[in-house]
Amino acid sequence: MLANIIDDLVARGWSVQPHFLAQSLTLQLATECRARQAAGELLPAGIGRGDGKLVNESIRSDSILWLEPGQSPTCDQYLATIDELRLTLNRELFLGLEDLESHFAVYPPGGFYQRHLDRFRDDDRRTVTVVLYLNDPDWSEADGGQLRMYLPEGERDILPEGGTLVCFMSDRIPHEVLPARRQRLALTGWIRRRV
Ligand code: OGA
Ligand code: MN
Repeated sequence: MLANIIDDLVARGWSVQPHFLAQSLTLQLATECRARQAAGELLPAGIGRGDGKLVNESIRSDSILWLEPGQSPTCDQYLATIDELRLTLNRELFLGLEDLESHFAVYPPGGFYQRHLDRFRDDDRRTVTVVLYLNDPDWSEADGGQLRMYLPEGERDILPEGGTLVCFMSDRIPHEVLPARRQRLALTGWIRRRV
């Protein structure tokens, strides 16, 4: 699986891996995400960083909670899995990747995130975007909420089915989240390089 991701990233800059995690771990992460959402721990996401940060519901409508190491055994298991990916990327592609920042993201029905790139003007450390979906595996076209990637050959839509991992080069692939018709859960992260 990790070898396929490396090959895809080299060949075209993105990769989609259905059933990336054991189903039990995906379910545990989804349960934790829902519980933290119910407890009011997720907050409306800002755009950008630091002082320039503002909540702008016309650009994105998700609420997020940043993951901290040690927050739960379930999250730590996920962080360890992505760390293996980070080490493999460094070994194979010499990317000098240093750490991961990631957050739970919940889009309410009707939620979306307009077309954007994941690299900030004032912070270019984000190198590889990794998104793990935590929805039921029966998510359908009619539910919307697709990740739309804008590729040289055209648009490509990915259904946010639970257990699917999408990776792409953060500075290369413009993308958006199409309006979802039901609540949409994801664990979104960025593997960052050394400065
Ligand atoms: C993001 C993002 C994509 C997705 O949070 O920056 O683009 O499919 N998420 O949730
Ligand atoms: Mn993004």
